[in-house]
Amino acid sequence: MASIILYCRPGFEKECGAEIQEKAAWNEVYGYLELKKNEGLVYFHLNNAEEGDQLINTMPLKRLIFARQWFLSVTDKLDLPDYNRVEAITEALGADWQYADLRMETADTNDGKALTKFCRKLAVPLRQALRKSGSLTEKGDKDGAILHALFLSGSEVILGYSYAHNTSLHVMGIPRLKFPNSAPSRSTLKLDEAFLYFIPKDEWDERLTSGMNAVDLGSAPGGWTYQLVRRGMMVTSIDNGAMAESLMETGQVKHKMMDGFKFVPMKKNNYWLVCDMIEKPQRVAKLMAEWLLRGDCKEAMFNLKLPMKGRYQQVNEDLQTMKDMFNHYKVKYELYAKHLYYDREEVTVHARVFSPLPEF
Ligand SMILES: C[S@@+](CC[C@H](N)C(=O)[O-])C[C@H]1O[C@@H](n2cnc3c(N)ncnc32)[C@H](O)[C@@H]1O
Repeated sequence: MASIILYCRPGFEKECGAEIQEKAAWNEVYGYLELKKNEGLVYFHLNNAEEGDQLINTMPLKRLIFARQWFLSVTDKLDLPDYNRVEAITEALGADWQYADLRMETADTNDGKALTKFCRKLAVPLRQALRKSGSLTEKGDKDGAILHALFLSGSEVILGYSYAHNTSLHVMGIPRLKFPNSAPSRSTLKLDEAFLYFIPKDEWDERLTSGMNAVDLGSAPGGWTYQLVRRGMMVTSIDNGAMAESLMETGQVKHKMMDGFKFVPMKKNNYWLVCDMIEKPQRVAKLMAEWLLRGDCKEAMFNLKLPMKGRYQQVNEDLQTMKDMFNHYKVKYELYAKHLYYDREEVTVHARVFSPLPEF
């Protein structure tokens, strides 16, 4: 049976499952879910394999909030022998299809992490064998398919593919970012990942560049401000908490100790608004939409903290609030949300409007 297999943060299988089932149904693709708590994997077993192919080809992965990565299975779970694993995998794949790349993957769990070394070792002979059999093309083909080998253990694997134009660039959808030693908090990685994920690199010169002005709401001790400063921006940081001295010394940061909901910039010269305030997500979503509609920023990157229960529903409601506000004022906008790797009980949202309202 063909299944779409999705990778998510362990503990978020229910949200990831509910989302794929709902969004697949909008595309008239139906199936049933299989998930185990804290495994970080969701199996969406399809009634019809061809529909699954259509879905992973045309429904943007970017539209899924809780899935980091996905693929369509071409085999059921294969039991591998202790020896000749490479031959067993090559044989199971057959020679009908060609793939542009191979991803050796596991679940994002401790058991999965324990398989990393095994996967690395097996990757070399497997790549060679797949090249020889013609399953793997010599050079990466941007329009081709990516072969996924999901190892559930050293003796169990599921094979499948995603389309190169609609897949995560990273193995298991996880970018490995290095924590900068001089950053004041680990939260810095959340904004670093968000910029990488939401803003295409070839647009950084226009959209993420030095000389821009930015506002950071809920900024202390300064992990997010650090990301803006390191890109050469001038930042107004709003928080009653203290900012790291090292950031203040750069001369690029103005710190205002006040409520982020009350701060209104004097000039309309801010390009970025970023916000990591621990506050009710409904309030934050509304605040972000107001900034964008007023033209007080051009783009906003922010976190919506998730409640204990009804997490998928809550995010949908908050995004809907923003869409309703943008639609009410008939502005063109872009709005994406993702549960990024460095996020925990929160999702990251990127929003921008193309024609703010001077009279809002
Ligand atoms: C998760 S921390 C931010 C961490 C920061 N992004 C970093 O990278 O270092 C949340 C911050 O939001 C601030 N905060 C919460 N509610 C706020 C409000 N209404 N106005 C301003 N700051 C607020 C808190 O003081 C806290 O410092």
